[in-house]
This record gives sequence, structure tokens and C-alpha cells, in this order.
Amino acid sequence: MDDRFNTIAGWTLFGGIVALGLSTLSAHYFLADKPERPEKMGYAIAGVEPEGGAGAAVLEPIANRLAKADAAKGEAIFAKCKACHTIDQGAANGIGPNLWGVVGDETAAGRGGYAFSDSLKSKGGKWDFARLDEWLTNPKKFADGTKMSFAGLADPMDRANVILYLNSKGSNQPLPPPEAMPVAGAAPAGGTAAAAAVVGDAAKGEKVFAKCQACHTIDQGGANGIGPNLFGVAGDAIAEGRGGFAFSDALKAHKGTWDQATLDQWLTAPAKFAQGTKMTFAGLSSAQDRADVIAYLNSKGGKLTLAGPAAAPAEAAPAK
Ligand code: HEC
Ligand code: HEC
Repeated sequence: MDDRFNTIAGWTLFGGIVALGLSTLSAHYFLADKPERPEKMGYAIAGVEPEGGAGAAVLEPIANRLAKADAAKGEAIFAKCKACHTIDQGAANGIGPNLWGVVGDETAAGRGGYAFSDSLKSKGGKWDFARLDEWLTNPKKFADGTKMSFAGLADPMDRANVILYLNSKGSNQPLPPPEAMPVAGAAPAGGTAAAAAVVGDAAKGEKVFAKCQACHTIDQGGANGIGPNLFGVAGDAIAEGRGGFAFSDALKAHKGTWDQATLDQWLTAPAKFAQGTKMTFAGLSSAQDRADVIAYLNSKGGKLTLAGPAAAPAEAAPAK
């Protein structure tokens, strides 16, 4: 009986020791979460961009990723940042600074007197979208000596999503227009056309424009309504003129002209293109509808040479 008791006691004790050892180990393991975690982490929070790796895939420009990014997904990713950052207006600095309004703001300045590293301070300039993308890819690579001990977000869409989320918190900077992506090889002959190369049909676009007529006139000299008259808008300056129409600051913040790409982005999701826009229109989800309506806009006093086969006159289409 005694023997058995000792055996049981022995195993219990052993079990305790093992458990103790494990908890110590795991405590050590989870130190990886703390700011002073070792350079080599027990697990990857997120991998680091493969450096000069073979077959480096073409990175989609941040503007293009932002155009399809999702702030709600970004909020979920922000869980990784919360160990060190608050985001709400007026919230306290922690290990890292409060990030309210950081998009478009000075790099490593202000933030309630947060003590930034000299490394980040030496960068100067502002946090625009491209710079945030670079920073969040690999903070140490952006500013070796930074206090932000965070491996980075390897997934380009994760970065776009979280940046869009940051932008929704006190910044609301206008999103940059997407860039045309170089397509390998020549235009697909008769193949499935890439979205950017969708050929617009002005006649079909006129039908699509029925959706816009509640707010817009299009003929020359037409009155402004809820939205501005759109005669000659294709190729014209963004949010300017139009008989003194009172544009939102959100749209006015976009400089430049309405070219095919910006119109396409705008009509995909107006509120995403210019957060805070007065155009309460969900957008046209069909690339074909957008191409058609852009061709129609352009036929009404526009000055764009529409890209792709759209530029060719319809008569030139091969007869069946
Ligand atoms: C382990 C803590 C930690 C984590 C996790 C972390 N950060 Fe930071 N962050 C910091 C620190 C510390 C700084 C200040 C860096 C310096 O001064 O070099 C900083 C700075 C920043 C800045 C610059 C602020 C400014 O005003 O210049 C941004 C933007 C930022 N972090 C975004 C993020 C995002 C987004 C995430 C999550 C994807 C994240 N950080 C995750 C600690 C962290
Ligand atoms: C519910 C009303 C409404 C509908 C529907 C609507 N718009 Fe608008 N649109 C507006 C308003 C308001 C503005 C000004 C936006 C601002 O200032 O933020 C605007 C602005 C624009 C501009 C920019 C004009 C400029 O000079 O910068 C274009 C282009 C445009 N709309 C095209 C369209 C097209 C094409 C459609 C249909 C597919 C459409 N809109 C549907 C209300 C509307």
C-alpha cells in the first residue's frame, strides 16, 4: 500500500514538475508578444517579405490594393497592433503611439508627445499610403533602429486592409487612383479581356446613365441638380467648375483630371474613392457598365482617348 502511495505521489510530483516546466517554457514562449521580444521569434506574427527571392512576384501598387481593400478586414488585422497601439481619438499612448489620424500626418511627430526613436524621427515627411505600405511590410527595414518591434505584415492585402482601416480613423485621406497594371504580353486577341481593357459602348452607356439621371444632367448647359451637370466631365478637372457646384471637400481633395482610370474607380465605389463624398450612389459593380457609361460621358463633350480597342471606331470591327 505504502509503495503504491509513493508511486502515486512520485508521479503526481513529477507531473507537477512537468507542468511547472511547461508553464515556464510557455511564459518564455509568449514573451514573443512583448515589445522586448528577441529578434528571432518563436513564431512568426507575420513573415517578412522575401528579400530578393527568386521569382519575386509583381507587387500590385498600393493604390490598386486600396481600391479593393476592406476596412472591416483591416480592423480584424489591427488586433495584431493593439498590444502596442490605441486608435480612438484621444486614447492614451502605449508602447506605441495612439494612431488616430495618422494617415497623412507627420511621421514620428506630435502624437501627444510620444517619445519616438531617432531612427523614425530622422525620416521626416508624412505618412502617405505608399510610405505606410513600406513601413508595415518591414518596420526595421524602413527605419533600422525603430522601437516598433513588429515583424511586419507579409501579405500585401493585409497591409492595404489595415491602412484603409487606419484611414477611416480620423484621416479620411482621398485614396490614390489605381495605376494601370502592365499586362504581360500583348492585348489578349479575342480572349477574355482584362477589366481595364473592357470596351465601352456609348449607346449602352446611355441606358446605364438612367441610374445617374436622378442627380445629374448631361447635356451642355444643363442645370446642376443634386449632382453637377456632367457635360464634358471626361478629361475635365476633378471637382472643379461645373457652374459653381458645391463639391464636397472629400472629392475636392482629389487633384487631377477625370481620366478613364479615375472615372472607373470612382464609379466602382464613390465612397471608397472619396470618403465623405456627397454622391450617395453605391457604384456600378459591372466593369462593362462602367466602361459603357464612361464611353457615354466621353461622347458628351469629353476629351478622353479611351484606352484599348475602345479607341477604334466601331465601324472598324471585323465583320462576321
Ligand atoms: C510590439 C509593439 C508594436 C506592435 C505590435 C505594433 N507597433 Fe506600431 N509602433 C510601435 C512603436 C514602439 C512605435 C514607435 C516607433 C519608433 O519611434 O521608432 C510604433 C509606430 C507606429 C507608427 C508610426 C506612428 C507615427 O506617428 O509616426 C505606425 C503608423 C504604426 N506603428 C502602425 C502599426 C500597425 C498598423 C501595427 C499592426 C499591423 C503596429 N504598428 C504594430 C509599437 C508597435
Ligand atoms: C444620388 C445622387 C447621385 C447619383 C445617383 C449619381 N451621382 Fe454622380 N454625383 C452626385 C453628387 C452629389 C456629386 C458631387 C460629389 C461630391 O462633391 O463629393 C457627384 C459627382 C459626380 C462626378 C464628378 C463630377 C466632377 O466634376 O468632379 C461624376 C463624374 C459623376 N458624379 C458621375 C456619375 C455617374 C456616371 C452616375 C451614374 C452611374 C452618377 N454619378 C450617379 C450625385 C449622384
